[in-house]
Amino acid sequence: MRSTNVILLPLGGVLVSGTIHNMFVGNLFPPASIHSLEFNDETDSLTLVKTYKADSPHAWISFDHAKKNIYGVSVNASSIASYRVTSPTSVELARSFPPTGVCTNTTSAFIEAMTSPPYYVFSAAWPQPCGMSYSVDADGTLADVLDRWTYTPSSGVHGLALNEVDGQQLLYSADLSGDLIWTHAVNLTTGKVAEVGRLGVGGTGVHPRHLAAHSNGKYLYVVNEANNSLAQFELSPQRGEAVKESVRYRLIPEKENNTQYWSAEVMLSPSERYLWATARAQRDTTNHGFISVFLLASDGHIIKEMLRVPTTTVGGWANAISPAIWSDEYAAMTDYPQGYVQMFKLDGKIETEYGIEYTTATPVSKVDIADGGCCANVIWYS
Ligand SMILES: *[C@@H]1O[C@H](CO)[C@@H](O)[C@H](O)[C@H]1NC(C)=O
Ligand SMILES: *[C@@H]1O[C@H](CO)[C@@H](O)[C@H](O)[C@H]1NC(C)=O
Ligand SMILES: *[C@@H]1O[C@H](CO)[C@@H](O)[C@H](O)[C@H]1NC(C)=O
Ligand SMILES: *[C@@H]1O[C@H](CO)[C@@H](O)[C@H](O)[C@H]1NC(C)=O
Ligand SMILES: *[C@@H]1O[C@H](CO)[C@@H](O)[C@H](O)[C@H]1NC(C)=O
Repeated sequence: MRSTNVILLPLGGVLVSGTIHNMFVGNLFPPASIHSLEFNDETDSLTLVKTYKADSPHAWISFDHAKKNIYGVSVNASSIASYRVTSPTSVELARSFPPTGVCTNTTSAFIEAMTSPPYYVFSAAWPQPCGMSYSVDADGTLADVLDRWTYTPSSGVHGLALNEVDGQQLLYSADLSGDLIWTHAVNLTTGKVAEVGRLGVGGTGVHPRHLAAHSNGKYLYVVNEANNSLAQFELSPQRGEAVKESVRYRLIPEKENNTQYWSAEVMLSPSERYLWATARAQRDTTNHGFISVFLLASDGHIIKEMLRVPTTTVGGWANAISPAIWSDEYAAMTDYPQGYVQMFKLDGKIETEYGIEYTTATPVSKVDIADGGCCANVIWYS
């Protein structure tokens, strides 16, 4: 999927070449739009290519395994959308349908696709508790709903993570309102899920929001929205379910007032050596948010917090960080309500007993998309 576009452009009389990387970002609120962007890794320039009308504002978008489709869910419009990716910078709506059965009238916060056959797709509802699995047609467009399931009456699932442990496809759910981490096993013939376990996150009001699973199947990382922390969970070697929290790191400085922040995101770098996590400042403050990067061992356990830097604005409803897929050093971050996408780059490279580390991360470029609804999350095409 790496873009082979190489552009040559004169800069101060010197010819500079760079690889162009493409990404899409959705709007969290109206107007319903999906934007295509490009980033030049030599000049660090970030530009908006084109804006497309979307089926609804999308709290979350994700690609299918082949990047021929984008799936989108909305916390307002109660619909699930499937778009065809018609070029590295363009999309068109293929299908949109409302949630049905026990999920009728629920609104969704997250959607993710399997990266191996049969490429099932999973969505989770928040604030109401509901999950759905979908089959896809030969082109990757969402086809049928295969299963619908609920959690507890007080649940509300905000984030999902998929992982394969010993040939078993597992689905992890971050139950924000229920303060639980759920593990389900996916039946690869039917697309139906079965609960493997549910684990408390260490108290009421911690609010696990999003999660990421290391591919070695031993660890799950959870960002706790209200506790403003990043927790590492151990997975059982037998069934892959989350069994124990082993360590927790604060995502804001000690001196900060916890109630003025709500942490947002956690994602792995492409080599899985670095783990990016973000905290947003609350919308009614003038604080800025924070980006933390953790150093991971090859088995996936967190060695240490490598750095924490302030973001440039409040972050409000977004601060969704999306590590580049082509380098461990870059990540794109979004802001709503200011409406922008900003590139951060790891900096201050040093060699230590653990290998390559970085001492800081700096914003290198930004593109404003101040249409009133941007920006939710970025997905990297190339
Ligand atoms: C979407 O939901 C949020 C949160 O409930 C609300 O503040 C916002 O006004 C809604 N937007 C629309 C267009 O319904
Ligand atoms: C879903 O919402 C619609 C519109 O508010 C309402 O008419 C309908 O009864 C709801 N259905 C269920 C199953 O709650
Ligand atoms: C998947 O579901 C089918 C049909 O119910 C069943 O026969 C099969 O044993 C299930 N597979 C697993 C691994 O549970
Ligand atoms: C966050 O979690 C830690 C560890 O469980 C706990 O000590 C702390 O009181 C929590 N902080 C807040 C603000 O809830
Ligand atoms: C923390 O922030 C909240 C909300 O802004 C405020 O009500 C509270 O007084 C603050 N607490 C302290 C100790 O400053």
